[in-house]
This record gives sequence, C-alpha cells and structure tokens, in this order.
Amino acid sequence: MKTILITGGAGFIGSHTAVELIQAGYEVIVADNLSNADTTCLEGVEKITRKKIPFHKADCCDKRQLKKIFEEHAIDGAIHFAGYKAVGESVYKPLMYYHNNLTSFMTLLEIMVENGGGNVVFSSSATVYGQPDILPVTEETPRKPAASPYGNTKQICEDILADAVRAHPTLKGIILRYFNPIGAHASAMIGELPRGVPNNLVPFITQTAAGIREELQIYGNDYNTPDGTALRDYIDVVDLAAAHVSALKHMVRTDRTGSCDIFNVGTGKPISVMELVNKFQAVNKVPVKYRITGRREGDVEAVWADTSLANTVLGWKAACSVEQTLEKAWAWEKRLRGIK
Ligand code: WQD
Repeated sequence: MKTILITGGAGFIGSHTAVELIQAGYEVIVADNLSNADTTCLEGVEKITRKKIPFHKADCCDKRQLKKIFEEHAIDGAIHFAGYKAVGESVYKPLMYYHNNLTSFMTLLEIMVENGGGNVVFSSSATVYGQPDILPVTEETPRKPAASPYGNTKQICEDILADAVRAHPTLKGIILRYFNPIGAHASAMIGELPRGVPNNLVPFITQTAAGIREELQIYGNDYNTPDGTALRDYIDVVDLAAAHVSALKHMVRTDRTGSCDIFNVGTGKPISVMELVNKFQAVNKVPVKYRITGRREGDVEAVWADTSLANTVLGWKAACSVEQTLEKAWAWEKRLRGIK
C-alpha cells in the first residue's frame, strides 16, 4: 500500500500525520475544505518533508469533488480526519454536526467501495467512553450515551464503519480512539491553530502565556481527584500521528476482513489540569495567569487509556514525555506570534 488520502489533512492532527506518513515512505494526498484550517500547516508539512503535497480543496460531503480525487490518484487507503470538532458548538448546531460528520464519512466509504475497497482509518475519540465506571479504559469498556452531538457523531461513524466493513469484504477499517492530543512538531513548523477563542486546554495555556488571553480558567477543583482538578490522558500529536502509520501497517499485515479493530491511542498516564499548567510553566519558564472557576458543563472527571492493545498489537507506544510535548507546544506558539 502506497498512496494514502488524508481527509482534513490541513488540520492539526491531519498535518502531523501527513509528515509521519511521508517520512515512512507513503505518498500522501490531502483533501480539505479549509473550513477550519488554512494552508499554514500544509506549507509547514512541505517544509519539513521537502515534498510537494498534492492538495485538493474539496468538501468530502460532495461526492463529485471527492470522486474526482479518486479518479486522479490511485488511492490505496484513507485516513478520515475531516469533521467538525467543537463539543460546545455541536450542542447549538446539531444538524450541522450530524450532516457534516456523517455525510463526509459515508461519502468517502461509498466511493472507496465503488473503487474496489481499501484501508480506512477513522479518527474516533475517548469521548465515546463518557465517564467510565472503571479506569483506565480498555477498548472493551462499554461506550456511554454520548454527551454531545459531536460525541454522538463519533459513535455513529464507528458503527457505520463496522457495518460497512462487515458488508464489503474489500473494505478494511480501523478505529483509533484518541485521548487528548496536544503539542506540535519539533520543528515548530506545524501545530494547533484554533480559530477564535480556544476550547481546549493547551492552546488556551499557550495563548495566555503569549499574552493573547488574559487568564486561563481552570474549570473546577472540586473533582474527586488527588488535587481536585480533572484528569486526562494527554497524547503528543507526533506520537498520535505515528499511531496512524502503525495502524496502516497492521492492516496490511493482518489483511483482516469483516471486522474492524479498535485501539486506544493515549499514554496511559493521567495528568490533572493543575499539574499540566504547572508543568507548562516549569519547563518553559513562563508564567500562566489562571483562576479556578466552576466546572464546565459536559466535562467528565477523569479518563485515561489502557494502551496495552496498541502497544502489543500495533507495536506502538507513546514516546514523548509530557514535558517535551509542552515545550513543543510553546515553541510553536512563540513562532506563530513572533515571540523570541
Ligand atoms: C481538558 C481539561 C477541562 C480548557 C475534548 C473533546 C475530545 C477531544 C479533545 C476534540 C478538562 C479543562 C479546558 C480551559 C480548563 N476532541 N480545561 N480550562 O474536554 O477532555 O476533550 O477535546 O477535538 O473529544 O471532548 O479536552 O482540552 O477541552 O479539556 O480547565 O480553558 O482541561 O475542563 O478537564 P476534553 P479539553
């Protein structure tokens, strides 16, 4: 397998995955409608890899546009990142979320089936576990009813892929459930580029350190955790990107039909919000003004991964320490803002 289509490849995780795939010897084609990204990261990918990336400004919901890409390139597999991802916004705009996230994925799968199948990696999320009863979560941990339309689209897309793979033997699928992806490439050429006010913790920290936001709000210190703040499993985005390379290799190696494997992609180590903020300040020697406020609606108290399956079956393991990841996140923000 050689040529991989990355939908949403101009985005945060997509662009890092493009780098890892190219460096592993794959040809990469990027499709992105640039609805929540611009070409900054694609240019960064080209600088890092010194390769020109075939880029199609295309909306995956539009079958004609997507089909054209398959006609132009001999695509062996696809990694599907294209989708809306703001949990809060999905509550206010559920139809937009269901329409975009489900249609884009179904369109991709339809075209792949029509073109003789291939390997598909779907970007799912730890959000499918909700607040698990037992921690850490394994892939066998039951999914909880989704707390948001965004989370529901992840669950439904997992089911769509499982059903499609069952019905179409030429189609092979893997589901990767990401925990909390953070950080940036070590070159500081690519990283997270949130539009407007960041929803996620690390971009909010880096923007506060850069003076763009006045202060970070820490959402709740009354959780049943060692320091009262919520626990998450923060996974370095380059490690996460590497998991996609391992997943594609695993699919080729096992040539499994009829069912799709699911893997947790995290570090296996819980870190509290407070710990993360303190580590960021310590490793980067930069202050982050913060204030403890009330809990954010919809947040779970604690979730982290049991990563044994990915470790043993995919031969993948998170390599980067959280300190290194936070250094890279700050280096990227500084480069973006011209801070010395
Ligand atoms: C982490 C922790 C917050 C911001 C979500 C999605 C998930 C995935 C990643 C998206 C929580 C706290 C945050 C802030 C804070 N998908 N926090 N102040 O909510 O675990 O996961 O994003 O693409 O599917 O659900 O990530 O980074 O928003 O929050 O105190 O300003 O940081 O309460 O405990 P989350 P997050």
